[in-house]
Amino acid sequence: MASNTRLLVFFCLFLPFLLSSTAQAQDCNNETFSSNKLYSTCTSLPDLASTIHWTYHSTNGTVDVAYRITQSSSNWVSWAINPTSTGMIGADALLSYHDSAGTVQIIMSQLSSYAPTIANASLTFTVYEMSADYSNGAYTIYATLQLPNNNTTQNTVWQRGSSFSNGLPSGHPNTNTGSQTINLNFLSG
Ligand SMILES: *[C@@H]1O[C@H](CO)[C@@H](O)[C@H](O)[C@H]1NC(C)=O
Ligand SMILES: *[C@@H]1O[C@H](CO)[C@@H](O)[C@H](O)[C@H]1NC(C)=O
Ligand SMILES: *[C@@H]1O[C@H](CO)[C@@H](O)[C@H](O)[C@H]1NC(C)=O
Ligand SMILES: *[C@@H]1O[C@H](CO)[C@@H](O)[C@H](O)[C@H]1NC(C)=O
Ligand SMILES: *[C@@H]1O[C@H](CO)[C@@H](O)[C@H](O)[C@H]1NC(C)=O
Repeated sequence: MASNTRLLVFFCLFLPFLLSSTAQAQDCNNETFSSNKLYSTCTSLPDLASTIHWTYHSTNGTVDVAYRITQSSSNWVSWAINPTSTGMIGADALLSYHDSAGTVQIIMSQLSSYAPTIANASLTFTVYEMSADYSNGAYTIYATLQLPNNNTTQNTVWQRGSSFSNGLPSGHPNTNTGSQTINLNFLSG
């Protein structure tokens, strides 16, 4: 009886501690950004070694985002919001890559099919600012944008690939399909 009680006390005292330290191992909070940019919330994305950080501005429905993903510097990365569906078709994407001169570039493109022609064009929502950098084996895309339909819950999609066409990203491995999407709540995280 006494040893059962001790066991119970052990679990009550230490199980919450064990669970919380497990959660902290996947924490995105130790990431830092250029120009000492700070964000109020972050989460680790469930695939492709990536994280997303953001600050939501309730006064005007805009959000500042930083998306970081591990990728070789000769390849490309992308983060997108899909305002009308889940997955790739209909997604409004930000893409970053190194150009032939070795400069990190950022473009935006609407993905209307599974084999879209990527061109730097406007999205279905306003992007006020966008930039990208590359360090320690990871790209970071920074953007300030207007949340579509002023909705704080959005379907987000992310991807990385190595194919280029005319110097612009084109295509990703067919093994990278389906799982790189989450419904993100910009209000609560
Ligand atoms: C951040 O934490 C993760 C998980 O504990 C670790 O793998 C990574 O090396 C840390 N990064 C920095 C810059 O400390
Ligand atoms: C967007 O929603 C926020 C929070 O509910 C609200 O404060 C803001 O006025 C809305 N903006 C527009 C343009 O509807
Ligand atoms: C939205 O609100 C934030 C916080 O007040 C402000 O810093 C930002 O400039 C505003 N953006 C626009 C496009 O008005
Ligand atoms: C894409 O267009 C934006 C303006 O909409 C510009 O700031 C950016 O430099 C362009 N990127 C490239 C690679 O042309
Ligand atoms: C916001 O978008 C989500 C999908 O991310 C949808 O389920 C929800 O109905 C939308 N809310 C409004 C008020 O349109």
